[in-house]
Amino acid sequence: MAHQVRAVVARGKGAPVSLETIVVPDPGPGEALVKVEACGVCHTDLHYREGGINDDFPFLLGHEAAGVVESVGEGVADVAPGDFVILNWRAVCGSCRACRRGRPWYCFHTHNATQKMALLDGTELSPALGIGAFAEKTLVAAGQCTKVDRAASAAVAGLLGCGVMAGIGAAINTGNVGRGDSVAVIGCGGVGTAAVVGSALAGAAKIIAVDIDDLKLETARKLGATHSVNSRATDPVEAIRELTGGFGADVVIEAVGRPETYEQAFYARDLAGTVVLVGVPTPEMKLELPLLDVFGRGGALKSSWYGDCLPSRDFPMLIDLYLQNRLNLDAFVTETVQLDEVEKAFARMRQGDVLRSVVLL
Ligand SMILES: NC(=O)c1ccc[n+]([C@@H]2O[C@H](COP(=O)([O-])OP(=O)(O)OC[C@H]3O[C@@H](n4cnc5c(N)ncnc54)[C@H](O)[C@@H]3O)[C@@H](O)[C@H]2O)c1
Ligand SMILES: [Zn+2]
Ligand SMILES: [Zn+2]
Repeated sequence: MAHQVRAVVARGKGAPVSLETIVVPDPGPGEALVKVEACGVCHTDLHYREGGINDDFPFLLGHEAAGVVESVGEGVADVAPGDFVILNWRAVCGSCRACRRGRPWYCFHTHNATQKMALLDGTELSPALGIGAFAEKTLVAAGQCTKVDRAASAAVAGLLGCGVMAGIGAAINTGNVGRGDSVAVIGCGGVGTAAVVGSALAGAAKIIAVDIDDLKLETARKLGATHSVNSRATDPVEAIRELTGGFGADVVIEAVGRPETYEQAFYARDLAGTVVLVGVPTPEMKLELPLLDVFGRGGALKSSWYGDCLPSRDFPMLIDLYLQNRLNLDAFVTETVQLDEVEKAFARMRQGDVLRSVVLL
């Protein structure tokens, strides 16, 4: 039996999204049907809508979600109907070269549902990051469901499905931030602010938040930043160096995804430090750096996909920390909205006055 549900679809490059009825198949082998309860609006959804990721329109947007498993297909043992789950876009395969080498957080063959969701006329949808959760129900690979404690609200739990995990993981997993480190985070939206929070969790001694928006900086300070720099008014490289004894930060996390902010991150880092790129660039962006500086400054230039997270390891752990009041996730939910308000949420994101708008279903 297929299910007809309401969902948010991006039909063409740059066009406003529309609320449509879509057809979601019953789960086949290895799949799970999830009743979505909440889904955050991530900047990557906007990238999809603008054709910045690829051209596989129409997209079924939404990928930062939590909900309850409604039914599972044949051979699914790890989750069962009734489980409260966070959806992930890293359902590790267990058999690719990364998995076989014991590095499943790099899994190159993550699983998605095999069957397609479609528009009423049969046009197949491309679910954002293999999830598609601005929908009352969505079909995913069972491995995309990570069971967590039901005591957390869906709005909060869903955040770990993308942006907040990407930010926390960029600090603790990719950047390997440790006790006493100095960290700078360039771009303090949902992802960058989560990197601030992750750095605080990891024991960083100095956390410098950089943004062009004072409101974002204020929130970052509330959540653990020890210093803040408005890079519209002040040169962030000089400011970060000044705040770190003239040297630069041990770890600089770029959470905007632009060449100029990457360059700032590159030069705001101490010798032998680490740059972590978590912001997603668009295909036409290019970066030019003196190769001698790349060589001479040493250290590591890394990028971070999904915070190098392992959902089965990281989601339950972070939800536990949240429930113990050791990780403030509530602060990331600026507003909750309805399914037909995703465009409004995009507009607010563009204006920069939200960390996360979360769609409640
Ligand atoms: N790597 C991953 O796995 C991953 C996961 C989720 C999101 N992302 C990406 O991370 C980036 C941030 O996502 P988000 O949801 O936090 O977006 P957002 O729009 O909420 O935040 C972007 C922030 O950058 C600030 N900003 C813009 N231009 C700036 C500049 N020149 N200097 C300093 N700050 C600037 C904005 O004021 C805003 O606070 C996006 O590119 C998104 O696609 C990556
Ligand atoms: Zn794998
Ligand atoms: Zn995302």
